[in-house]
Amino acid sequence: MVRKILKYGEPVLEQKAEPVTEFDTAELKDLIADMWETMYAAKGVGLAAPQIGLSKRISVIDVSVGEDESKKIVIINPEVTFKEGKQTGEEGCLSIPGFREPVTRASKVTVKAQDASGSTIELTGDDLLARAFEHEIDHLNGILFINHLSALKRDIIRRKIKKLQKTGEWE
Ligand code: NI
Repeated sequence: MVRKILKYGEPVLEQKAEPVTEFDTAELKDLIADMWETMYAAKGVGLAAPQIGLSKRISVIDVSVGEDESKKIVIINPEVTFKEGKQTGEEGCLSIPGFREPVTRASKVTVKAQDASGSTIELTGDDLLARAFEHEIDHLNGILFINHLSALKRDIIRRKIKKLQKTGEWE
């Protein structure tokens, strides 16, 4: 089922999400299936559970945006264990539609996480995947890409969003 993606301004997007403690459940499977469906419907590269209103440490990532089944990654309770290098590139977020800004991230990131059955996995990504790992793990800590911008740029975006909220174009 495609769920509604919450937009910037919803408190859950800026809260630290809760760890997942139960694995291999029908509920978790359904939730992950919904996250894939929602992410692909929105043509995103990643989606974190808080974006559909659930304060849980679950993210899905597919840098091929549905082109390559082998690129699908589910990370639960993820932690960055290693990062190196720097890359700067345009970044956006399904919860902040219409805004894209350059963000500097690590160029290589290793993540330790659990999969849907609770097994520990370790994954390393470069370039876009490294960026997606950092962006999606940020979501689980209540951090949005605009938090990485200068205060000036962030305020400009916030002000534009406030206008959209007033006219009902941000729901
Ligand atoms: Ni995002």
